[in-house]
Amino acid sequence: MVNYKDLGLVNTRDMFARAIKGGYAIPAFNFNNMEQLQAIIKAAVETKSPVILQVSKGARNYANQTLLRYMAEGAVEYAKELGCAHPEIVLHLDHGDSFELCKSCVDMGFSSVMIDGSHLPYEENVALTKKVVEYAHQFDVTVEGELGVLAGVEDEVSAEHHTYTNPEEVIDFATRTGCDSLAISIGTSHGAYKFKPEQCHVDPATGRLVPPPLAFEVLDAVMEKLPGFPIVLHGSSSVPQEYVDMINQYGGKLEAAIGIPEDELRKAAKSAVCKINIDSDSRLAMTAAVRKVFAEKPAEFDPRKYLGPARDEMEKLYKHKILNVLGSNDKLANL
Ligand code: G3H
Ligand code: 13P
Ligand code: ZN
Repeated sequence: MVNYKDLGLVNTRDMFARAIKGGYAIPAFNFNNMEQLQAIIKAAVETKSPVILQVSKGARNYANQTLLRYMAEGAVEYAKELGCAHPEIVLHLDHGDSFELCKSCVDMGFSSVMIDGSHLPYEENVALTKKVVEYAHQFDVTVEGELGVLAGVEDEVSAEHHTYTNPEEVIDFATRTGCDSLAISIGTSHGAYKFKPEQCHVDPATGRLVPPPLAFEVLDAVMEKLPGFPIVLHGSSSVPQEYVDMINQYGGKLEAAIGIPEDELRKAAKSAVCKINIDSDSRLAMTAAVRKVFAEKPAEFDPRKYLGPARDEMEKLYKHKILNVLGSNDKLANL
């Protein structure tokens, strides 16, 4: 049994309470490798932001769970080495799909877990989430549940069409499960292809495609039922057009990919939404930078020469999200 506190990590409780009060959101960035982790920590330290390091089941299998634990511990030490005396870093399981997986993460030093029972019938979701909460809370590990189904791919759970969260269910769900935060479905979805061009209209000022707005009325209704309760938004990548263009310019073949406009995320961050999940944007940044080096320097074969620029590009992206979208900069409890 590894306790996350011994690794220098924190759970989400205190940082979420502050985020709701302060009208900003904590970034939850997925990572799978060292370069992503370095970029996330550097961005968080330089902006003095709390941060959630998010690991999916797939990432855990890819990186190895033992290595991950030491990477998270290393991330805390790295943040200190970069000059942050009191970093606030959460190691969080993203889209846990079983009690066993959540338990294993709690036992291996995660400070927060998500149990995603959103695809299950309501009562089964309640029972599974409650079971995870009862286990995790013994070790002061916080738990995120989910109600409502996002369109797109949720790990191995595929939902072609989303079902918005039913605000009538949230009080019962939060009360009976004891979860610490709730992921809701209001029109975001996973991956780079969130909207098709035919679903969008052209903004005359920028010429860009603008997708249909998020269902803020659902978020408002949820907040009315559960005042002050931490809400989570998954599928919140904005799919920067520059990266899509860069990838295609340097030999990639991405189709029209449209994400969540940053204005909508800014608006959400000011509400009870206190955790915003971003993965795809970092994948795009990394791929764009690597493709550029490959295209411009085809003789290059030192991985540091393409993973280095990829790391720099991701750091730039993470800082932009923190400073210009989520507003979590300068929000460490001990600055
Ligand atoms: O929500 C899913 C995350 O983007 C993780 O994706 O399962 O491919 O690691 P993954
Ligand atoms: P994106 O695919 O929009 O980055 O969403 C990531 C996510 O929700 C991880 O849980
Ligand atoms: Zn997600």
